[in-house]
Order: sequence, then structure tokens, then C-alpha cells
Amino acid sequence: MNRREVLWHGVTGAAIICSFDKLATLGARPSGKPAAARRREVTGPFRPFQRDLPIPRTLTPVSRTRKREYYEVTMREAIAEILPGFQTPIMGYEGSYPGPTIRARHGRLTEVLHRNATGRELNVHLHGGIQPPDSDGHPQDFIPPGGERLYHFPNHGRAATLWYHDHAHGETHLTLYAGLAAFYLLEDKRERSLGLPRGKFDVPLMIQDRAFNDDGSFLYEPNLDRGFYGDTILVNGAIAPRMAVKRRLYRLRFLNASNARPYRLSLGNGRPFIQIGDDTGLLPKPLVRRKISLQPAERVEVLVDFSDYRPGTKLVLRNELGGKSTSAVMRFDVERGGGKEEARIPRRMVPPQKVPPPVAERTWTLNLMGAPTPMWTLSDLGFGMDRVDCRPRLRTTELWRFVNESQRIHPMHLHGVHFHVISENGRKPDPADRGWKDTVAVMPGETVVVRPYFTHYTGRYVFHCHAAEHGDLSMMGQMEVVA
Ligand code: C2O
Ligand code: CU
Ligand code: CU
Repeated sequence: MNRREVLWHGVTGAAIICSFDKLATLGARPSGKPAAARRREVTGPFRPFQRDLPIPRTLTPVSRTRKREYYEVTMREAIAEILPGFQTPIMGYEGSYPGPTIRARHGRLTEVLHRNATGRELNVHLHGGIQPPDSDGHPQDFIPPGGERLYHFPNHGRAATLWYHDHAHGETHLTLYAGLAAFYLLEDKRERSLGLPRGKFDVPLMIQDRAFNDDGSFLYEPNLDRGFYGDTILVNGAIAPRMAVKRRLYRLRFLNASNARPYRLSLGNGRPFIQIGDDTGLLPKPLVRRKISLQPAERVEVLVDFSDYRPGTKLVLRNELGGKSTSAVMRFDVERGGGKEEARIPRRMVPPQKVPPPVAERTWTLNLMGAPTPMWTLSDLGFGMDRVDCRPRLRTTELWRFVNESQRIHPMHLHGVHFHVISENGRKPDPADRGWKDTVAVMPGETVVVRPYFTHYTGRYVFHCHAAEHGDLSMMGQMEVVA
């Protein structure tokens, strides 16, 4: 298949498919025409394992008290060095791709003043956080170019791997692609007491796919049908990197921050991971897994004990759903020495939580509408900013049934609430899907039932498909939680 081929025909009427070129060249320095050899080098596919894994830096608060930490972040266009010798224009939090990590504590308020130094209307969403509607990145609450907005994150949730990303109305597929994504790691006391690996042995891994133009800029091919798939895998902004590891236990936090590409991760010759967490926190107990599937926006946390391997072992993390240039995700190079091991694999992590029985049932059909303009729909409708699709009651649970009538995967995501997966196509969910989640894959032709628990706030929140192209056009609905 020709990677330059636009797979979706008939998008001409869709206003959403604007030129990414304009976005990509904003702030770009003229780089001149690369020589033929360099051009071959830059258009890929790229050799994996050439660079060390970068770890995004942790942001320092501008001020802090025991109850509150205050940060300032500027969203701006900048240049990233992704391909040696080339400059890639990006949009980034603090101008970096990926953005800096924010570390937060359960029960302690995090406030972030986001400034928009780009030429576009932007918006910040803390994915997986439970925050008041006006701090949730609702599409109506955008930050105009030159503007700023203060976000309040009370951190009600348990320890978890969250992330923040742009949520610009109808444009998230471009802004996420351009680089506006970062980790937000929530910690709590219980997690601390478990003796999990910490510091440099606790590794956030943001997996994304990209493609490149001859000049090193990101290439975006519109594809409304499947969503964007790139020909190159990046982890924390580096092409299929390598990471030197000691012979000891590591905690790896996988995040799929790709627009639409799913992954199925496996290690070496099917050697196991020990899964400890998913989207919104730790599981009741660890699970041995040989494959980890990761749809857009999902997180999975695992422990890997590298003391099981001899020094010199090179363990490749593979994407079993990948093609020729997209199957190598990264590599772990086992080094001599492990030091004294303080970390351990806990036997139990968090007690299962009791929830009230559901008081309402809702069904959402997921489909593609072909005419007059192609778009993705939720129960036959596109997103309506002024339309409320349902009004659940605060402190209740409901059953939401997602019925996928289309040929594509829809990773459905709810803002403002966490949910349990009740069934996947009539069967009990996979053990890995039995914790609290915020995003769940609904496979083609399948039905998935989830039970959201509306715990904290009244007001309007969106829910949508997290294949960015689908959510933008416009498989997205709006709930209003009422007292
Ligand atoms: Cu990552 Cu509307 O979400
Ligand atoms: Cu979200
Ligand atoms: Cu979708």
C-alpha cells in the first residue's frame, strides 16, 4: 500500500480536513532543499533503536503550599529534533514534544495557567481526571490566540497515569498530531505503600505514530474513515528508541497518544508483562499478560523484571498489529548490575469499590453517515454544541450500551466520570478491562456495555470516540449531569 495514498475519498465537502501544511510550517525556519540522499534518509522508513529513550522533564510548580500547586504553561510552536539534521515544527506545551510531565497528589489541588501563544484557538483537557466542567476542556471553553485560562484540577482520583492534551473543537486530530500531549501522573498514599519501582525505574512511555515530509516536517494524511496511521512509531518523541535497563524491576506506563492507531504490545519472544494498572489506576491485583492491547487514549501500566535476563539481552517491544516499519516500538538493552532491589511485585493493590446499581440505560449507536457530507455519528447525530444528549443524575450509575454498526474500531471515552466495563459483545470483559476505565474499544460490529458512576460534579461534559478524526467529525455527544 502506498503510504502517501489518501484512503478516504470524497472528503472535499468536509471543512474539517484543512491543510496540515499550514499548521506544520507555522514557526518553521527555512531549512533549504535537502539533497537527494538526505531526502531518502528523511522520508523513511527509519531504522529503529538508534536513539536513547528521552524522558519528558517534570514541570516545577511556580508556587506551592500543602494544599495547592500552581503551574504556568505556554502552548507554542517550536522546533523538535526528531530526525538527525532536520527540524520538525511542532506545537508543544512549553514548546516541547511531548510536553513536560505534571506530577500531582490525590486530594491536593493542581492549578495550571495555560497561555496560548499559538495562532489557533486551543483548549486543554486533563484526560482521565475528574474536574469541574469549566476546567475540563469543553469545546465551548477555548483559549483564543494570545489568551490564557486557569484550570483547576482537584485530583479526586486514585493514583493513575493521566495525560493532558488539546481538545480544540473539531481540530484535535491536528493539534494532538502537532505535539500537544503530555503526561500527568497522579500519586496517592496507597500506591506509595506498595513498594512499586520509583524514580528512574518508573517510566512513562507515550506511543505515537507519525509520518514525515521531505523537509522533516510532520506529514498528515487526512483519512476520515480509519483515522490517521503513520509509517513510523515514536516513543516519547523519538523514533523506536532503545533504553538501557538495570537488572531489576521497572514500572512501565504505556499511553497510546496516537490519533487512531491501535497497538498490541508484546515483549521479546512472548515473555510476560505483569499488568498492574489501566486507564484510571491500579488493578485489585496484578495480572500476568503476554500481550497488551492499547487503543487510542488508553493507558496500561506493567511491571517488568529485567533481572530475569542476562546482561547483553536486547528485548524488543513489538506492536503485533504493525506493518513493516511500525512493528518495532522500542528496545530494552539489559545491562550489568541492578543494585539493591527495593521494589517488589505487590500481591494486592486496591480493594474493589462498591457502586450503586444502575438507575438508567442508554444506547448509543456508532456509525458512519455517507451523505450529504461524510461524518461519523453517535445515534445518527453529529456533535451539537447546544444539544444535550442525556441528563444523568449525580451520585448514580447508569448502563451505557455502545453498539458499533460500522467497520471501524471506536475507542469510546467519557469525560468527567470513570466506568466499569460490564460486557463486551455479551461476554464478561477481558480481565485487563475489569478495573475503572475512561476509554473502551468497541470493535466493528460489537456491543460494549459500561457502567459510568457520576461521582463529583454537575454540569456539561462531552463523550466521544478517541480516534481523533472520528471525534472531530463528529462522533461526540454531550451529557449534563444534574443534581
Ligand atoms: Cu482524551 Cu475528550 O479526550
Ligand atoms: Cu478525556
Ligand atoms: Cu471512532
